[in-house]
Amino acid sequence: MARTRIPLIAGNWKMNGLKADALALAQAVAAGVRQGGWKDREVLVCPPATLVMAVAEAVRGSGLLVGGEDCHAKANGAHTGDISAEMLKDAGASHVIVGHSERRSDHGETDAIVRAKAEGAWRAGLLPIVCIGETLAEREAGKTLAVLEAQLKGSVPAGSTAATLVVAYEPVWAIGTGKTPTTPEVAAAHAHIRKVLGELMADAAGVRLLYGGSVKGSNAAELLAVADVDGALVGGAALKADEFLAIAKAA
Ligand code: 13P
Repeated sequence: MARTRIPLIAGNWKMNGLKADALALAQAVAAGVRQGGWKDREVLVCPPATLVMAVAEAVRGSGLLVGGEDCHAKANGAHTGDISAEMLKDAGASHVIVGHSERRSDHGETDAIVRAKAEGAWRAGLLPIVCIGETLAEREAGKTLAVLEAQLKGSVPAGSTAATLVVAYEPVWAIGTGKTPTTPEVAAAHAHIRKVLGELMADAAGVRLLYGGSVKGSNAAELLAVADVDGALVGGAALKADEFLAIAKAA
C-alpha cells in the first residue's frame, strides 16, 4: 500500500526577516499550529540561515517544523559564505529546500548541483524539498512537461524514497506574480511528475508533491484540492502569520 501522503504546508521566507520581526512571525505561526493541534498535516517555516537557530528555539515544542532555504552539497570545507546541511541540522532544522528557481537563476545551480545538495541533506539527516518548474517561455513553447521531466531526472537522487524526498512544483512565472496555473494545468503537471518519479523509484505513489507560486489564503483550498497536490510551498504569503495559517487550515 502506498505510504499516506500527509499534506505539508511550507513557508519559504526567502531573503526576508530581521530578528525581532522574524521571531514574532515564527511565534505567531507556532501559536496557530499549537492551537490547531493537527495530526493530519505538517507545517514548516524556512527562514533565512541567520535566523534558523533562533526560530527553531523560539518554536520548540509547538509542532511547527523549521527548515533551511538552501545548503551546500558538502559537509564542511573551504566554501566561504556557504552553509552545510549539517550546520542547518545543528541549528535545529529538519528540512531544507534545494534547487529553488531563484537559486537556479541567481546562482547558476544546475540539476547536478541540486541533486548533490539533496544528497547532502540526506547525509545530515534532513528531508530535502527539491524544486522544479518551467519558465514562461518554456510553457508558451509547450515544453512544460518535458522541462519538468528533465529537471526531475537530473535533480532527484538515486535511492530516493517517499520518506526521503519531497518535490515542489513551482512554475517560475507564477512566483511572486499573483498568477497561478489553472487547476487542470496544475493537475497535469503533478500527474506527470508522479509518473516520471515512478520511473525513478519504487514508491513514487507516496512522495509528497507541493505546489508553489502565488499561493495565498484565498486560493489555497482550490489548489490543495487538485489531485496529486499534497501541500504548498508559499513565499510572500508566508510572511504574514494569518495568511500562512489560513493556507495551513485549508490543507
Ligand atoms: P510566492 O508565494 O511569493 O509566489 O513564492 C513562491 C515561492 O517561490 C516559494 O518557494
